[in-house]
Amino acid sequence: MRVYLDNNATTIVDPFVYKEMVPYFCEKYGNPNSLHEFGSETHPALRCAMDRLYAGINAADNDDIVVTSCATESINWVIKGIYFDRIFNGDKNHIVTSEVEHPAVIQACRFLEKLGVKVTYLPVNSDGVIEIDTLEESISDETALVSIMWANNETGMVFPIEEISRVCKKHDVPFHTDATQAIGKVPVDVVKAGVDYLSFSAHKFHGPKGIGGLYIKEGRVISSLLSGGEQMDGLRSGTLNVPGIVGMGKAMELAVENLDFEKNDVKKLRDRLEDELLKIPDTFVVGTKEQRTPNTILISIKGIEGEAMLWDLNKAGIAASTGSACASEALESNPVMEAIGAEADLAHTALRLSLSRFTTKEEIDYTIDIIYKAVERLRTISSTFSYAPDWHESKL
Ligand SMILES: Cc1ncc(COP(=O)(O)O)c(C=O)c1O
Repeated sequence: MRVYLDNNATTIVDPFVYKEMVPYFCEKYGNPNSLHEFGSETHPALRCAMDRLYAGINAADNDDIVVTSCATESINWVIKGIYFDRIFNGDKNHIVTSEVEHPAVIQACRFLEKLGVKVTYLPVNSDGVIEIDTLEESISDETALVSIMWANNETGMVFPIEEISRVCKKHDVPFHTDATQAIGKVPVDVVKAGVDYLSFSAHKFHGPKGIGGLYIKEGRVISSLLSGGEQMDGLRSGTLNVPGIVGMGKAMELAVENLDFEKNDVKKLRDRLEDELLKIPDTFVVGTKEQRTPNTILISIKGIEGEAMLWDLNKAGIAASTGSACASEALESNPVMEAIGAEADLAHTALRLSLSRFTTKEEIDYTIDIIYKAVERLRTISSTFSYAPDWHESKL
């Protein structure tokens, strides 16, 4: 059996998404900016895709959604664009973010630090979420941007976006949120949330890879970083990725249609997996079930190096993760576990299991069985754990 439980890294393309993309590779392959029919015959599908994106996050007609190549690009654009708009000219010199952001945010901020920008990395509580008071205290007249994620990629914890946005409005600071792990898992409504900028990537919600977007609220300008042929109203130059945009639009439509399924059915499977794994002694999961995206578990199984568990799971055909996808080849501790204050040996035991609407009950049952066996095997050879074998027998 092959079981894919690494959906926070990337997801399968929904077959309905794939089907809508196919004609735009070999039949309707024109450049949308060309004046002939090869170009113009792509326009209806592009319009439809953009409408679906606007509807999916409840953006208004006068807001902008600019198609990018991925969330990493969108995030870098906001953070570096704000530098050119509000910091370079000497107006401001400070950005606020959190310690548990994706490396796209952290590294873009580190880059600006080298240029002299001050960055506050807000700490998180034991659930892996920032406290509103610390945000409020960190903002000053110098602050040019607050960038806080909507949902965390490791823990699935959903941040108090409306409260964060209220604080930003009070201090008149633009608010960017990285919603890469939120879209398709929890409702994302830019009006209700009151955000100014929002980043996303299609492949996290059953769309294709290499395509993403940046929402920009009406009135919030941002310098373009990609100069050239003035596509996307001059905001982001470069020939449009027509199949990608068509696929992202369909994926967004399906993501919204499936939100109830995520909230009920995916969550039920996730909770079952979690409840069974928590029967293993000396385990804990970061964050409460209700405040997490319905698909994610970050579990620590004491005494078992995350990579060793991944190895056993992989041998049994199960894909999971120990940390963010970019870092998963290195034997590193989980950065969010470190940020919540877990001891170094516990931070090395993190195992992330992330489901999707394509995950089945059989796959979950199989995974529980394999993890139980792996725990027995690995804890007997663990140098940091004294093994009590009877927990498993008592369950059978
Ligand atoms: C929260 C979050 N932000 C940003 C990204 C970057 O997405 P991409 O690699 O598609 O640019 C990821 C990917 O894992 C993510 O989980």
